[in-house]
Amino acid sequence: GTRYLTGSGNAALPSRLAFAFDIDGVLIRGKNALPAAKEALSMLDGNNKFGLKIPFILLTNGGGVGEEERCRKLSSQLGVQIHPEQFIQAHTVLKSVVNKYADQPVLVLGGKGDTLRTVAEGYGFQQVYTTLDILAWNASIWPFHDLTQQERASVKTTDFSKIPFSAIFVFHDPRNWALDIQIMCDVIQSRGVIGSYRESNHMRKPVDLVFCNPDLIWQSDFEAPRMGQGAFKIAFQAVFQALTGSTYPHTQFGKPTEATYKFAEMMLKRHLPGVSTPSLYMIGDNPESDIAGANAAGWKSILVRSGVYDSRHGPPSHQPTHEAEDVAEAVYWALEQEM
Ligand code: G3P
Ligand code: MG
Repeated sequence: GTRYLTGSGNAALPSRLAFAFDIDGVLIRGKNALPAAKEALSMLDGNNKFGLKIPFILLTNGGGVGEEERCRKLSSQLGVQIHPEQFIQAHTVLKSVVNKYADQPVLVLGGKGDTLRTVAEGYGFQQVYTTLDILAWNASIWPFHDLTQQERASVKTTDFSKIPFSAIFVFHDPRNWALDIQIMCDVIQSRGVIGSYRESNHMRKPVDLVFCNPDLIWQSDFEAPRMGQGAFKIAFQAVFQALTGSTYPHTQFGKPTEATYKFAEMMLKRHLPGVSTPSLYMIGDNPESDIAGANAAGWKSILVRSGVYDSRHGPPSHQPTHEAEDVAEAVYWALEQEM
């Protein structure tokens, strides 16, 4: 629709405002762009009363493929060119921690087959393994999954009794929770070298555990929200606690964590050169991640009713600056405040 598209006037003042858009439930549901998304992005491309181009980034807890590939897919879905320097996904922030583990064996979870191995190697990790690699090495480690032809083609076999894992990174949503939880418990309890339970392995440092997306739920194209990586984390911690008596310490990235919003703010400011006090807006559908994180970062936050948030269940758990039906109404309201 063109509810809010007005003629473009002369660009009077450099933009001091910028937007961060959540993706699932705001711009896209499943594979389809929401109608309001094209209108919203067109307003930022100069279709507003000052004819002003306004910078924006996409900030998602999604992931599973490389930034370049996701940007190509988003550009065709949204009909607007999205560049990697406008794009942060759940595991992008790992680029800032890779040097600590670059030459050490790490276990990467989530996504399909070995797609994330390629992403992790692209970030600079040099010894990347998946739970399917471990299953291919010793099928008895999890007797309830037989590797498919396709999975067998993607594994990197090695003798894991000689591989001292230093960290486990949950990049994206695991597909086989049972297999992944079993192997996470094996690697953690054996302090990195699977199978070395009996020998005293207390000399080795505990394995680091990093999650990239805390979302319990997210909005896909099914009418009700789906379980996200946060649900997987709860399942792992519940099993680990039952096995060992306590949950396992870990690092959490993704919205609403401060690390992810600081990373996003740095990226946004690169699009606002010379603006000392920018006005930053987050538009999201999940109060727990989008609104909570933006509020904590001191940004303005707009909660849309096109995704996870359902006003029939009462007020949002985190109070946004403004609530809107969809992303176009949200952008229009923000521009009215600022111009
Ligand atoms: O896996 C994606 C989901 O957790 C949320 O994605 O774009 O709403 O942050 P998004
Ligand atoms: Mg969302």
